[in-house]
Amino acid sequence: KKVVLAYSGGLDTSIILKWLQETYGCEVVTFTADLGQGEELEPARKKAEMMGIKEIFIEDVREEFVRDYVFPMFRANALYEGTYLLGTSIARPLIAKKQIEIAKQVGADAVAHGATGKGNDQVRFELGYYALKPDIKIISPWREWDLTSRTKLIDYAEKHQIPVPKDKRGEAPFSQDANLLHISSEGKVLEDPWMEPEYDNVLSRMVSPFDAPDKPEEVLIEFEKGDPVAINGERLTPAALLTKLNEMGGRNGVGCIDIVENRFIGMKSRGIYETPGGTVLFHARRAMESITLDRGTMHMKDELMPRYAELLYNGFWFAPEREMLQAAIDKANEMVSGTVRLKLYKGNVIITGRKSENSLYSEAMVTFEEDDVYDQRDAEGFIKLNALRLRLRKGPIDGV
Ligand code: ARG
Ligand code: SIN
Repeated sequence: KKVVLAYSGGLDTSIILKWLQETYGCEVVTFTADLGQGEELEPARKKAEMMGIKEIFIEDVREEFVRDYVFPMFRANALYEGTYLLGTSIARPLIAKKQIEIAKQVGADAVAHGATGKGNDQVRFELGYYALKPDIKIISPWREWDLTSRTKLIDYAEKHQIPVPKDKRGEAPFSQDANLLHISSEGKVLEDPWMEPEYDNVLSRMVSPFDAPDKPEEVLIEFEKGDPVAINGERLTPAALLTKLNEMGGRNGVGCIDIVENRFIGMKSRGIYETPGGTVLFHARRAMESITLDRGTMHMKDELMPRYAELLYNGFWFAPEREMLQAAIDKANEMVSGTVRLKLYKGNVIITGRKSENSLYSEAMVTFEEDDVYDQRDAEGFIKLNALRLRLRKGPIDGV
């Protein structure tokens, strides 16, 4: 009877809205979130009102997004397949959670989203819905309707008096998803993985490294328990801090990747992702960990990271094993406090210093000068015992 739709206000979700009303004859409740995608939300309200929606939910979730989703994920240094900072993946659980909260509040029995049947996002949304409301009904228009081409979609919109912006009439050059952490561009002209993108047309949050300034920009980032809290001495809220890092990284061409990734459902896809602030933060965090984490902790954390990243990529944010890993990761981060200094230069993040009250780094220990804390003779036995099984090994080794 009532369905909560994740509504952006764009053409596609407007068509979905109308289609839900028509096909299911149900009352549609819209939810529009400000995740830092850089779009006005009021037009979405106007459009929803125009289409007869009575319950319209609009919420600025930027602080919650960065504080409760992005930062916890960064504590793991999560990278999917070695490169992807999971910018889209990490936003889906929050949207799903908000939709379910609203469904409970307004007494809706269903939720709907605008992800296609070929991607990861459908999985992430729906695993979130089911985890938080096991009896929820899910409507996924892209898997159900027969509006299988752009022409059919536009025809449908025009037939139902949905305004079609001039630039949406033709084929969009590629599909984008944006939030405060990243902007992804996939599909259409980007589908050939050998085709170099036209950076001027694709990049919207940063300059390409080729166009970045010739002068490096120095940045100081302060951390508390694994999370960044201040930039250049100025304390900032999580969302404000990430916004600032996006500007700094963005104007220096930092954080653009061009990858082919493995989607959960099985196919490979090519994407161009802009994550300027996240990329600066990633490198700064590792530098902070390098002096504050014990070797055993750090290596174990690094071993668990790919598992954690895959869970997030595949949509298992609300799974018990993600919470289990998170608890370990948060525990490891208790000592990760201090300051990192770095330079941004033509797409690079160059670390130039790190310091911490909790530093495990001992100059007295590591010095090349004479010291009285380390007896070099101890190393002889250490190496001899480690060599024991190498000396007992049989057979020629590498031809010797
Ligand atoms: N391929 C990336 C991911 O799976 C980005 C997905 C972008 N989503 C979108 N609706 N355009 O996380
Ligand atoms: C989509 O299919 O809606 C976007 C791509 C993805 O989710 O992987």
